[in-house]
Amino acid sequence: MLPPFRKSSAAPTWISATLWEKLEAAGTDAFLAAHSPRLRLERWGSTLRACALRPALPDGNEALLEPPATLGWQAERMIWQTEGERTARHLRGEGWTTEVQEGNLRFGIDLTPGTAPGLFPDQRENRNFLRSRRPTSLLNLFAHTCAFGVLAAAEGATSLNIDNSARALARGRENYRRNHLLGTQPRFWKEDVRQALPRLQRRGETFSAIILDPPTFAHGGRGRSFRIERELAPMIAACLRLLAPGGSLLVSVNEARARRGELERTARFALSAEKIRARLEPSRRPIEVPETRMPAGIWILRED
Ligand SMILES: C[S@@+](CC[C@H](N)C(=O)[O-])C[C@H]1O[C@@H](n2cnc3c(N)ncnc32)[C@H](O)[C@@H]1O
Repeated sequence: MLPPFRKSSAAPTWISATLWEKLEAAGTDAFLAAHSPRLRLERWGSTLRACALRPALPDGNEALLEPPATLGWQAERMIWQTEGERTARHLRGEGWTTEVQEGNLRFGIDLTPGTAPGLFPDQRENRNFLRSRRPTSLLNLFAHTCAFGVLAAAEGATSLNIDNSARALARGRENYRRNHLLGTQPRFWKEDVRQALPRLQRRGETFSAIILDPPTFAHGGRGRSFRIERELAPMIAACLRLLAPGGSLLVSVNEARARRGELERTARFALSAEKIRARLEPSRRPIEVPETRMPAGIWILRED
């Protein structure tokens, strides 16, 4: 038998069987299954991935990766990843890729170490909220693998996805294909968002929904590096100019220092400068994700 966790703080708390069933009933099999301060267990379809903070936990901790019997679920594949390390190991099964489901949509997932999985489950309730806003046209900035775009297209909206990573957009296109949505003629622009925004304004395009979900820092490639504290306020103002009356704008920032209060102040300042009336609502949080693990976010909902 494997020894138990040596540090009790490392033992993860699993979500309840009731919540597990509720998520599955909603058609979702990608979610945070358990966590402790040093360990996160993510369910990706039939795979369980353990992500441990450094320093690496001692070997032999695999025992507590077994889901409680009350969940009635066993992972076909288990992967152990220590954050920041280039390698990961399989504790069960093999391979790195899979497909997951969120509601009526499917997304490709790649758990190769050093690769982004391809879906942010912590944005699930924001995707659901976007659906409830019945968008007709979506501008998906920092689109990554286009999860928001796929959702909007499935709801009948046009979608423009902008990201400076060709690989992320190729995975995004594949997600549209997987959901039979290429016929909605989604647009994919491989471009720096900072250059695309003024161009969209010159072209007179407007959108009923905009997602602004930037990284906190990114190397600029051939352009300037991206720093959230410098870029956010002008980007919110630029998005407001592209937002149609009655439209919805999500601003989400994965930065501990930029808490919601600060985001709200920045948003209110931009709204007043652009003379736009809107109400602000907190971004939505999936019930299984603790507040401390969430990005800071607000919805700006135009009221004119
Ligand atoms: C946090 S992810 C966005 C997640 C996405 N909203 C989702 O829910 O799946 C950030 C993305 O921004 C892209 N990126 C970073 N800097 C950029 C820039 N200056 N212009 C365009 N895309 C950029 C990265 O390639 C990455 O895909």
